[in-house]
Amino acid sequence: MNIVVGITGGIAAYKAPEVVRLLRRAGHAVRCAATDHALQFVTRVTLETVSGAPLYNDLFASGGTEHISLREWADIVVVAPATANCIAKLASGIADDALSTLLVATEPHHVLLAPAMNSGMWRHPATERNVAILRSWGVSVVGPESGALACGTDGIGRMADPAAIVSAIDGIGCGVLSSQRWLVTAGPTYEKIDSVRFIGNYSSGKMGFALAEALAEAGADVDLVTGPTSLAIPSLPRIHRVDVESAREMLAAVEAVWGECHGAILSAAVADYRPAEQADHKIKKQGDEGLTLQLVQNPDILATLGRSKREGQTLVGFALETDNEEANATAKLRKKNLDFIVLNSLRDAGAGFGVDTNKVTILGAKGGRWESGLMTKREVAQTIVRVIMKAEV
Ligand code: C5P
Repeated sequence: MNIVVGITGGIAAYKAPEVVRLLRRAGHAVRCAATDHALQFVTRVTLETVSGAPLYNDLFASGGTEHISLREWADIVVVAPATANCIAKLASGIADDALSTLLVATEPHHVLLAPAMNSGMWRHPATERNVAILRSWGVSVVGPESGALACGTDGIGRMADPAAIVSAIDGIGCGVLSSQRWLVTAGPTYEKIDSVRFIGNYSSGKMGFALAEALAEAGADVDLVTGPTSLAIPSLPRIHRVDVESAREMLAAVEAVWGECHGAILSAAVADYRPAEQADHKIKKQGDEGLTLQLVQNPDILATLGRSKREGQTLVGFALETDNEEANATAKLRKKNLDFIVLNSLRDAGAGFGVDTNKVTILGAKGGRWESGLMTKREVAQTIVRVIMKAEV
């Protein structure tokens, strides 16, 4: 890819040459664009040497249109570090120097920001609002992280590690899914027993929400059909959230859009069974007897989509297996007519329900196999999206 690394005036600018070095080592072509303040922290000579290309710092140096030619050249503009000022200017559309002009000339989903600033500045309502606005336009944001800050305090505000910035770039996909519609299911289902009780499970919806975000960041319009969860809707305009409660409601919501979709990733933990009867009043305790609930099978949403899958549609399911994991997952992949199945690891602490991290193995219908390490669910989602976009299935 062609990548512009923008550098603004924060102490973390001293790490920008490392970002450039890692990107070049990964085979990308890099141009640097720095503000005057950034050049207080890192020199023109350093940036031109590590990038192997002239620095873009003067709006008028080559006739005043370099921001347009650079925008056309670049697949992505990464700003590392991005100061509060740079974020505020972009959220307001201010273009008053070379880098900010390039940023306003670039489509939001081709921009990745790696903010770095003091904790108070990161938590300032203006910065929070500006970051939310930028995200809602499709700008990606990596970090900041917590740790020791240059001002001598500890807290949130450290720029993400150069290596994390490089993997975030890989995860963005630069709008490869623009004009595609994708469907994601997330969360648990609740199966009603009576007017106040249900059968449910511990799924938090985090994996599905992260998948919806990763798809939207790659440019797709996403229908996110979710069971009950306390998660807030990801703040991306291309995600359309539909809330459902039971498996049957989820099936109806999914069937309403599947025909229009390029693909679907079904990560919801759908209840396999529901009570055969659902009382419309609270069931009362009766004597000393137990209570027997008769359960009937729910529809298998994934298998239903697999049966009606058209040429060109991609269908991805999840599997949680306790024994013969890969063999069982592969059997499921065939039986349900999937293109990929994502096998959740049960063996690793930090993977699975509720937690923020996960570890998966992705199996493709044509024998492909990819393993993620233990990563945040956001990174796992980006890995899954990258694999299903690029893989020879
Ligand atoms: O067969 P199993 O339940 O292990 O399959 C898991 C996969 O199937 C997940 O992708 C899940 O979202 C989906 N599923 C479904 N409808 C069901 C049960 C599971 O879509 N009733």
